[in-house]
Amino acid sequence: MQKHKIPLDASVLDIGTGNGVFLVELAKFGFSNITGIDYSPSAIQLSGNIIEKEGLSNIKLKVEDFLNLSTKLSGFHICIDKGTLDAISLNPDNAVEKRKQYVKSLSRVLKTFNHFMNNVLQLTYLFLNFYDTVM
Ligand SMILES: C[S@@+](CC[C@H](N)C(=O)[O-])C[C@H]1O[C@@H](n2cnc3c(N)ncnc32)[C@H](O)[C@@H]1O
Repeated sequence: MQKHKIPLDASVLDIGTGNGVFLVELAKFGFSNITGIDYSPSAIQLSGNIIEKEGLSNIKLKVEDFLNLSTKLSGFHICIDKGTLDAISLNPDNAVEKRKQYVKSLSRVLKTFNHFMNNVLQLTYLFLNFYDTVM
């Protein structure tokens, strides 16, 4: 984030936040507009507890299935995914459709479809599949 000179007030969405540790690090670094979603209520509860313990109050958390977004979640400058697309891609139940839906959701929540951080391998995988299946 620092390397890419991303402003600290950029809106950031952490997709599949798990225990929220990445959100905690972002908040400690100074990011002020961060949201974490996870489809697991217990993950959101756990991340809420950790965030509270850390004394951080300005992190938004929501139970959301990224493949079936229920609320108006949009306009984010940055989306981060550490491990969620991997989990979705490894699901034997219709992974291709789920990856397509993931790309659709990503284009819906991002302000512009260009700031998405994932690990390099997974990003390459996503875009290869994106071009194969959607383009
Ligand atoms: C491998 S864990 C990574 C957690 C966290 N990002 C980290 O790095 O520690 C994947 C997370 O994605 C969540 N997840 C999987 N599919 C999801 C979906 N469709 N929508 C939202 N969260 C999802 C899981 O509940 C889990 O917390």
